[in-house]
Amino acid sequence: MKENELAINGGKPVRKTPLPLEFPGVHHMDSKEVQAAVKVLKSRSLYRYYGVKLQKEVEKLEAEFAERVGTKYALGVTSGTGALHTALSALGVGPGQEVIVPAYMWVSVLAAVVNLDAIPVVADIDETFCLHPAAVEKCITPKTRGIILVHMSGAPGDAKAIQKIARAHKLFLLEDCAQCNGGSIHGKKVGTFGDMGIFSLQMNKNMTTGEGGCVVTNDFELYQRASASHDLGYARDENGRLIFDNPNLRMWGRGYRLDEMRAAVARVQLKKLPRIIKAMQHSKYRIRKALEKFPGVQLRKIQDPAGDTGCFLITTYPDAETARKVNTALRAEGIVTSPQGVSNVVLTDWGLHLYYNNASLVNHASVDGHGSPWTLAENAGLEQDYHKGACPTADSLFERSILIPIPSCLKKNDEDDIIRAFGKVLPVYLP
Ligand SMILES: Cc1ncc(COP(=O)(O)O)c(C=O)c1O
Repeated sequence: MKENELAINGGKPVRKTPLPLEFPGVHHMDSKEVQAAVKVLKSRSLYRYYGVKLQKEVEKLEAEFAERVGTKYALGVTSGTGALHTALSALGVGPGQEVIVPAYMWVSVLAAVVNLDAIPVVADIDETFCLHPAAVEKCITPKTRGIILVHMSGAPGDAKAIQKIARAHKLFLLEDCAQCNGGSIHGKKVGTFGDMGIFSLQMNKNMTTGEGGCVVTNDFELYQRASASHDLGYARDENGRLIFDNPNLRMWGRGYRLDEMRAAVARVQLKKLPRIIKAMQHSKYRIRKALEKFPGVQLRKIQDPAGDTGCFLITTYPDAETARKVNTALRAEGIVTSPQGVSNVVLTDWGLHLYYNNASLVNHASVDGHGSPWTLAENAGLEQDYHKGACPTADSLFERSILIPIPSCLKKNDEDDIIRAFGKVLPVYLP
């Protein structure tokens, strides 16, 4: 057997044990999170607004989160999806409006728009794997109300360019930072470019409480409207009393209040976030550097490596067939995690992150069984075609790109194995 024979052709694989399956925040959990949770349990005050011995954990988390992101206000909520609903409600999204979303995102983004009876308009992406500014401009119509920029797979999109477009057209900009918590562009944190930003604390994210989320903004009125929406439909004054006399703050509540125990855990995780990101960044950029010597491989366009949270590596190939072959060969070399975890995949296999994989979207599934929101009178003429083909750059990038998760616990020998596997496979398929 030749020493460099590919494992897929019967050669010896680079590694036999799977790469570590990691949920970054979970990996760093220790007695500090346990103590924080137990302290709240022992207090028997699990609710943020009142209790037998109020702990104010949610309030403290909000202050710390806002400070870390660099916004005036933060609002803890029960999920990233809840954060999206809350923010879009605060921004006044409803029937007769179009909201521009990227072709590469997560289904929750679509759901939040559709559940508010508005119409998502899917815009193409570019080599950042986030919204392509020129594609966004093309999608703008008199019905457009706002843009959701999703900072995908750990790295920020072109927030400055999208912010400029939003301002020029008087549209809202909501940043979805669920997959990019702690990310930044030249020192400015994601979540500070838009009118509002949202975060998820779900278990796959850079820091976690299992489930949880956060909404951020610099605008007091938007903060109050978000607060009203996530709660009972009314904002609260500094003493926690509901405010009824402001017509702008009479909304309908969604019941997304964060509880004290998860907030206490989140506060511990927030302190660990920089360390988690640093570890992922270090591994990712060591691997990226090694890949630079293969001219046939295109690395994802990163605006500012220092602001990339590092949790995913995306490489792109000249055509779909090469990407599939490289992926299959890398997996045979042992560059896989356990079957349960997000592993080494061609992006076409990345499920509901791809617009055309969302059956409810493509088929205009209704919320009420009678075609809503697509058939609402206010939405007449706003129907969109969401089938594959609607976003050609995204379609091409999806089939030509491979995504590999970068756990924060990757050891030097794991990184070496990934680099060695690419080094074995690439010269065969990209001579
Ligand atoms: C980009 C994006 N937005 C929103 C969400 C929704 O977050 P959650 O799972 O906390 O509801 C997710 C998470 O899965 C996400 O990846």
